[in-house]
Amino acid sequence: MLTVPNLSVEKKYNSIAVLTSGGDAPGMNAALRAVVRYGIAQGCEVYGVLKGYSGLLEGQIHPMNASSVANIIQRGGTILKTDRCLPFYKKAVRQEAANLLVRKGIEALIVIGGDGSFTGAHLMEKETGFPTIGVPGTIDNDIFGTDDTIGFDTAVNTAIDAIDRIRDTASSHDRIFLVEVMGRSSGFIAINTGIGGGAETVIVPEQMETIASICKTIERGIRRGKSSSIIVVAEGPKPGLAQRVADGLAKKNYNPKVCILGHTQRGGQPTASDRLLASVLGASAVATILSGTSNCMVGVQKNKVTLVPFKEIIGTKKHLSKESMELARVLAT
Ligand code: F6P
Repeated sequence: MLTVPNLSVEKKYNSIAVLTSGGDAPGMNAALRAVVRYGIAQGCEVYGVLKGYSGLLEGQIHPMNASSVANIIQRGGTILKTDRCLPFYKKAVRQEAANLLVRKGIEALIVIGGDGSFTGAHLMEKETGFPTIGVPGTIDNDIFGTDDTIGFDTAVNTAIDAIDRIRDTASSHDRIFLVEVMGRSSGFIAINTGIGGGAETVIVPEQMETIASICKTIERGIRRGKSSSIIVVAEGPKPGLAQRVADGLAKKNYNPKVCILGHTQRGGQPTASDRLLASVLGASAVATILSGTSNCMVGVQKNKVTLVPFKEIIGTKKHLSKESMELARVLAT
């Protein structure tokens, strides 16, 4: 279980802002609630920025109080709204954002998001000196330096729930189902869903399977008396992979059904684990940045909160463990 660290604060700042950025993830609201309430408890003014970096550039910055985050811990999505802001890749735009924050009297910025959002925060601090800190929020769990990201556990639970339902109909009709889960460049959702949902095969970007090897697995199952199969497919860089695999299997005389879970995995009530993770990381981010440490992410390693410099995270690939891939394979046979 996640250990709650000592969150004592030596306060260097009195005014902070928080935004959510990139793809939303269940638990972002719980993190926001923790940031606002922990910040207020330290005697800080806390501002919420609407619509990520885009809203920041538009000056959509509003004071928040304890009541602004009431009744949101159980809600998916993000009440602050979010965006993928391409202009923030430009240096001049980041300078403009920092100037705007300074003009509003805000002294530090907390960014709840993924790798791309952290790149923006890191560069803004490096170029302008404006302090930033990251809280890992993405269903993909693909951020280096943290074992878990906010939203991942909920997304996996959603996908497993879907697989349980699909299995009922797959076994009633003796069918093969290809279930596509999210995870652009990483197979974390796919592998955990595959293990937890008892999939017959898991296809991840880290280890692509050929149509011939998928056919072999299906045939081995048939020889063992299996009449239906669930194949979990990570969407990969070009979503729709499950359909492409289905087309390949059709050429081998199989007739699989395809189910793309898509954005259903991004919504819904966060699980208990995600709420706890979000609450602890949100409060830790406030304690850390108020004490003067910035340009880093608060993550979790071996159930302990850790600080990892942005420069170590950005562009570093978090690898899917070989052991997980092997376990998924062995348990499926
Ligand atoms: O990064 C999270 C994620 O949900 C990925 O798994 C997925 O590929 C992508 O976002 C989809 O993004 P969008 O909602 O912008 O299409």
